[in-house]
Amino acid sequence: MPRLALISNLDGCGRTSLAVHLASAFVERGRRVLALECDPANLLGLHLGLEQAPERGWASLLQEGRPWTGAALQNSEGVVFLPFGSLAPAALAGLEATLAREPCWLADELAAVPDLADALVLLDTPALPSPFARQALGAADFVLVVLEADGRSLVQLPVLQAWLDALARGRPHAVLVNRLDSSLPLERDFLAVLQQRLGERFLPYPVHRDEAVRLAFACCVSLCEGHPHSQALRDLAGVAGWLEAQPALAGARP
Ligand SMILES: Nc1ncnc2c1ncn2[C@@H]1O[C@H](COP(=O)(O)OP(=O)(O)OP(=O)(O)O)[C@@H](O)[C@H]1O
Ligand SMILES: [Mg+2]
Repeated sequence: MPRLALISNLDGCGRTSLAVHLASAFVERGRRVLALECDPANLLGLHLGLEQAPERGWASLLQEGRPWTGAALQNSEGVVFLPFGSLAPAALAGLEATLAREPCWLADELAAVPDLADALVLLDTPALPSPFARQALGAADFVLVVLEADGRSLVQLPVLQAWLDALARGRPHAVLVNRLDSSLPLERDFLAVLQQRLGERFLPYPVHRDEAVRLAFACCVSLCEGHPHSQALRDLAGVAGWLEAQPALAGARP
């Protein structure tokens, strides 16, 4: 059960969109996938075809003392996903306290789910330093860091690196630039600086800014279904192919 965590210390840089569309791309390539929402925002289901944010999710089942994987759903494309669910503020604070006490909680829970043996698990996270993002970092076999070609990403790079050093502990990672507008000289410049700073950790397949991503979300369709000729879909197919070739994501955990 290889685990891919989408991580960033920037809000709104596209982690959830990428998690969803990469999940579809992997399913398209014949891979069994579970998209796990490690984010109390509870938006993942909306990206995967639900019309409203679900009350029931893994965190709400956990709160009720029931098996937390029981909230899994499957969309029309075959992407299995576990939404976070709706949690009252006090319950959320309690869960966050548990995560703070038990840094390996998510890794241990995932390891104990036998059904996941051959599935690729994609972990969608809130921005670091959320405790949910820290758990996902600790549970990941491969970390896909999401940035943008802008000054905010560049300035935050050392902070991000410190988190990776502390929690990913040498596990492989790559940095993906999302929402790139390569017609803008400033973005091309930022991209070049990021590439130079990151060296071989820079993933040479950026995902371009494409209105199709926002339209797909607004219309509750996948890119494949709603925008089969979009630039973003082509970009994501390239990223999925690159990720599949990474030994850490190749198959069952040793
Ligand atoms: N490649 C892209 N091209 C155009 N729009 C994009 C792209 N990627 C993401 N977006 C849009 O950017 C917005 C933020 O994306 P998303 O919610 O996936 O980011 P996030 O990192 O998960 O945010 P949050 O910090 O709230 O969890 C959304 O409106 C989404 O449709
Ligand atoms: Mg998100």
